[in-house]
Parts: sequence; structure tokens; C-alpha cells
Amino acid sequence: MQEPGSTSVPSPVVAATPAEACARVAGEIHELLAAGARAGAPTVLGLATGGTMVGVYSALVERLAGEPVDLSRVTTFNLDEYLGLADGDPRSFRSFMAQHLFGPAGFAPERCHFPDAALAAEQPGLAGEAYQALIARHGGLDLQLLGIGRNGHVAFNEPGTPEAASTRVVPLHEHTRADAAPSFGGLEHVPTHAITMGLLEIRAARRLRLLAFGEAKAAAIHAALVAPVDPACPASLLRNHADLEVLLDGAAASALGA
Ligand code: PGA
Repeated sequence: MQEPGSTSVPSPVVAATPAEACARVAGEIHELLAAGARAGAPTVLGLATGGTMVGVYSALVERLAGEPVDLSRVTTFNLDEYLGLADGDPRSFRSFMAQHLFGPAGFAPERCHFPDAALAAEQPGLAGEAYQALIARHGGLDLQLLGIGRNGHVAFNEPGTPEAASTRVVPLHEHTRADAAPSFGGLEHVPTHAITMGLLEIRAARRLRLLAFGEAKAAAIHAALVAPVDPACPASLLRNHADLEVLLDGAAASALGA
């Protein structure tokens, strides 16, 4: 693993393999959870979905199996949820999390929060405010996991999102819907809207850990870390966060010129 002093800000961690990067971040989360449990203090995790996170969660499940931690004071907040899916739909982000992390690691479902997609369909403003308020009531996010889209989105903060955007209902970008089409059995079945945490709540997390693997993410990572900060790449608006670590494989780092 190298941590080069490249021209990018901040210097990303370039791992030999995605699995190595996933193990590193899973180890950090395990430490955070263990420290909270030792202190009898609550820990608040911000969680993400997507293919990149599958390896993080399987590494975390493995760590927790090897060194169990009392999770009874852990609360989680996921970044986003699709609108218009039935409760328990296997394509919902809640189902993804239940499958990859909450079930296998034994997180209490009632402590695992998602933006309220049903409320969002009826009263979008209220649903956004309620999620923001719930995060604030828990003292904010200790660590937020993030992936990045090919277009530089973080959560469903698509290109053009202002820095001050908070939790809200958004139409999904065509690239985002196209990326999701295979798991929905065709583009016409992909939801058109989602409710997403905003850049405001994401930036307020005490630690940000952004992971990206593969050549398809190289341009987005360049725009996020090296090109001028620009809402056209929402991830670039996180660049000056006080505790941001970006974890890449060589392919995702390949446009950085390090
Ligand atoms: P992926 O999605 O992990 O499936 O590549 C990342 C994202 O779109 O945020």
C-alpha cells in the first residue's frame, strides 16, 4: 500500500487490490465500534450502498466475527433510498444493507435508519427535514462511507448539486438510472426519484471515507481530487473536509498522474 505525495489534495491511499482497501476501512470502522463499546458511548455510522461497498461490508462482517463487538449502542444512517418501491423490495437499499451487513453482523434493525421514502413520496420537504433532525438528535455522523459515481455523484447528489444542499428528494440522473438498469430488469423499471442525504449532512460527518475501484472511476476521481473544485463533480466539494480519506486501487488512481 502506498500513500504518495501526489499533486492531488488530499493524497489518496492507493491499495494493491480493492480487497486491501476494503480491509483497511473495515479495520478502522471495527476500531471505532470497539472504542465506542469500551467507553459505553454511542457510535453513529453513515453507510452507503453500491458494488464498492460489498467488499467493505464483507470485510467488516469478517472482523466482527473474529473479534465481536457489542453493537447495542451503534446507530446507522444510510445515505439514500429509492422512491416508489414496496416495503421489503429486494432492490431497496434497506434490503441491500440487511443482506450485506445488518443481518450477517447482527445490527439491530430498529437502530438502522434510512430516509423515509414513503413519506418522501407524499411530503418531500418534511421527509428531508425529519432525516436531518434525526441525525442531529444522534449527535451527527462519526464516520460516513462514500462511493462515487462515474459522473462524480456522491449518494444521489448529482452533477450541479450546490454545496449547501441538504436531505431532499431528487430526480435520478440518466447515467445513474442506466447503471441501475440491470438490477431492475431494464431501464423502464428503475425508479425516477430518490431521497438522498445532502452534501451538507455528508460534509458534517466527522470522518469521510470514500472508496473507488476500477478504470471506470478514474475520471471521476481526477475530477474529485485534482481538477478545480466544481459542482459539476459533487465529490470535489468534499475535497477540503478536515478528515477525508480516499481509498483507491491502481486503476481508479490511474488518471491522477501520481
Ligand atoms: P458503485 O456505486 O459502488 O456501485 O460503483 C457507487 C456510487 O454510484 O456511488
